[in-house]
Amino acid sequence: LSYRIVAIAGEGIGPEVVKASLKVLQLVVKLEGFSLQVDYGWLGSTALEKFGSYFPQATIELCNGANGIVFGAVTQGGLLELRKHYDFFCNLRPIRLANSLVHKSSLRPEKIQGLDILIVRELVSGIYFGPAGRSGDEKGAYGYHTMLYYDEEIRRIARQALHKAQQRRRLLTVAHKENALPHLPWTRLVQEEAKQFPDVVVEPMLVDNLAMQMVLNPQRFDVILAGNMFGDILSDIGGALVGSLGLLGSASLNADGFGLYEAVHGTAPDIAGKGIANPLGTLEACVLMLQQWGEVRAAQRIMAAQERVLAKGYRTADLSPQGAEILVNTEQLIDLLLEELDSK
Ligand code: NAI
Ligand code: MG
Repeated sequence: LSYRIVAIAGEGIGPEVVKASLKVLQLVVKLEGFSLQVDYGWLGSTALEKFGSYFPQATIELCNGANGIVFGAVTQGGLLELRKHYDFFCNLRPIRLANSLVHKSSLRPEKIQGLDILIVRELVSGIYFGPAGRSGDEKGAYGYHTMLYYDEEIRRIARQALHKAQQRRRLLTVAHKENALPHLPWTRLVQEEAKQFPDVVVEPMLVDNLAMQMVLNPQRFDVILAGNMFGDILSDIGGALVGSLGLLGSASLNADGFGLYEAVHGTAPDIAGKGIANPLGTLEACVLMLQQWGEVRAAQRIMAAQERVLAKGYRTADLSPQGAEILVNTEQLIDLLLEELDSK
């Protein structure tokens, strides 16, 4: 088998975490005996400098026909356009915690042990894409963004979330705000779709309460379905639950199963260029890509190597190593992962 991906490094720590993760991906591909071609694409400010556009045609041409896109992070420009262009509406954000990192959470161990939540976030509609602008009237200047969803946009992401819940613990919590936003009937639309998934329990929850419950009682959740903005905010709570935003990865898929794979974090300007970024979020995104391809054993191999390295106490700076734990930089962590992979 042979795959081709496009790597888009972006800015800040983007290039550091993409380069690091690809080393691990390349080794596992070699060990598993399939082949992988990596092309390099451009997005954001670096694309603007080189091609005069945040989301250049050259990047589109590279991405067309590829098996996936591995992305770092950008400060501004291009990413929303890329997501929209390929209709990557289904954003999957697993929030899992390795046993060896339980004490890194801001919550007590008994509150967090075994945490395994999947956030399913609608990614190409809602308030980030609705009619927007600035204007003015007799009362003064104003700005507006519109949270607009076609019913069918809610239904199609609902079907994805229901399907995921069916494969997991069969509980789907739906984030909504129908007391204030009654014209966006997430609950009704999801329940209608759920008739095709009779074994899944649908639990609507007001998003503000849901944010609190994620902190108070995160183990109770299985799959959480949310619109674009609510999902954005809720998934950063996930970063706090597991102890570092740098650990979380995501997959954004379209209806054909083509996807964009990236960490949940941004360019982290405060640590960029220092070689200390945690690459595990982007590596998790690569694991999701392998799973999407059906390369389950390769994905499993990376996860197992990561567990072993973490269990030995190696930590990047964002996980504030203490006591017997050992501080490592990005490159050292990757070298440890490569050694683990090679030895099994
Ligand atoms: P951020 O995610 O870049 O950083 C938040 C905090 O987490 C910082 O203290 C950072 O050092 C830390 N952090 C994040 N990733 C880390 C990693 N892998 N290892 C260690 N520490 C890590 O969010 P922030 O600061 O709000 O945004 C910075 C820039 O990134 C902004 O320009 C924003 O627009 C952009 N951004 C881009 C995204 C993307 O390209 N997908 C997503 C989120 C933000
Ligand atoms: Mg965000």
